[in-house]
Amino acid sequence: MPFLNRRIRSAHNRLAKALKEPETKERFRRLILNAKEQDRTRCWDHSRPTKEHPTFLKGPQGNITDLVRIQIKQFGKIRILDLGAGGGLVFDELHSEFGAKIESTALTTGQIPVLETRQRTGAIQKIIIGEAAAWLPKEKYHLIISSGGGLYFTMFPEIAFAKTLGALERGGLPYIQPAHNIETGSFRKIILGLNRKKYQIVKFPGPKSDVAIIRKL
Ligand SMILES: C[S@@+](CC[C@H](N)C(=O)[O-])C[C@H]1O[C@@H](n2cnc3c(N)ncnc32)[C@H](O)[C@@H]1O
Repeated sequence: MPFLNRRIRSAHNRLAKALKEPETKERFRRLILNAKEQDRTRCWDHSRPTKEHPTFLKGPQGNITDLVRIQIKQFGKIRILDLGAGGGLVFDELHSEFGAKIESTALTTGQIPVLETRQRTGAIQKIIIGEAAAWLPKEKYHLIISSGGGLYFTMFPEIAFAKTLGALERGGLPYIQPAHNIETGSFRKIILGLNRKKYQIVKFPGPKSDVAIIRKL
């Protein structure tokens, strides 16, 4: 059963309202179909960090390993969600470093066989087939990663972002790298508008880095 707190309920209602417009609904449907088709045909393992594509753990934008370490220190075992996980490569690296201290969930729009392989090896525990703005969380997470993933590709970044915040445990962190959305200002605006009594902005996306890191207080 999904849980619906106020933030998630209100985001979901905004999505339902937007989808009442037939053209928007059709465009959304097509985008999801397209993403599903890409997931069916690609394994995404090319996104292993390289100098040219410094995503994930070794990227200069931020160090996910450090965030995991901080959260484990605070909470013991932690739940991590990758919102638009691709092949789930990030979890291979985290699993070999942190093992049973993390429970990993990968959200993807379509079935990606390599994710299932990683589920068998234990690097991933759960797979959710869903869309960043339309999914309904069933549990809360201590860390939500979206690196070139759902928050980057969704048609409704503000709604997806609101759901991300709603799905965080108190003390939870989202690590978000959805470059173009931040650049076009929608994320910046939401981040600036966050209630500072409830959210601490650990890293604000600036000219040198697209990454946003926020802590739910
Ligand atoms: C480029 S891939 C991999 C991204 C992954 N974080 C990486 O760097 O390897 C993009 C992923 O985003 C997911 N995705 C695309 N559009 C999405 C959407 N609207 N909502 C959620 N996930 C989406 C796809 O299912 C795929 O898993």
